[in-house]
Amino acid sequence: MPKILILNGPNLNLLGTREPELYGNNTLSEIEQICKNKAQSIGLEVKFQQSNSEGELVDCIQLAVNTTKGLLINPAAYTHTSVAILDALKQYQEPIIEIHLSNIYSREPFRQHSYVSPVANGVICGFGAHGYLLAIDAIYRLISDKKEV
Ligand code: DQA
Repeated sequence: MPKILILNGPNLNLLGTREPELYGNNTLSEIEQICKNKAQSIGLEVKFQQSNSEGELVDCIQLAVNTTKGLLINPAAYTHTSVAILDALKQYQEPIIEIHLSNIYSREPFRQHSYVSPVANGVICGFGAHGYLLAIDAIYRLISDKKEV
């Protein structure tokens, strides 16, 4: 089974209680479980990780090089600040999808710039936890190079 990494940045460990009007009521472990169920149903293996530390996220991306076939990343606040994560992602040669629970383009101006988007195959934002499932479908399509709609 092709393995994908789903990587989550700072404060996403607080999902469920953190600003639920913006980020929804699901906890990160609930999101992990729905992602694993979905992935398994289409033949993908998921490694699901979260860190509040920029350096640890860089380490996770480096470890994913050559060991995974795709990367879904919600870099959270580091989206808007991290050249280190951008540089790490540049070394990752498989498909990358950027995810945000909220629609960052309808929020404060500082959230409307992403360092990650230029190296992502695509961006899914504004659909809450469901965005993770949309991203799994999208990465599956990229990995298997399926052409039909
Ligand atoms: C977020 C959006 C970011 O701007 C914010 O810092 C987050 C979460 C989202 O999923 O909507 O922590 O990435």
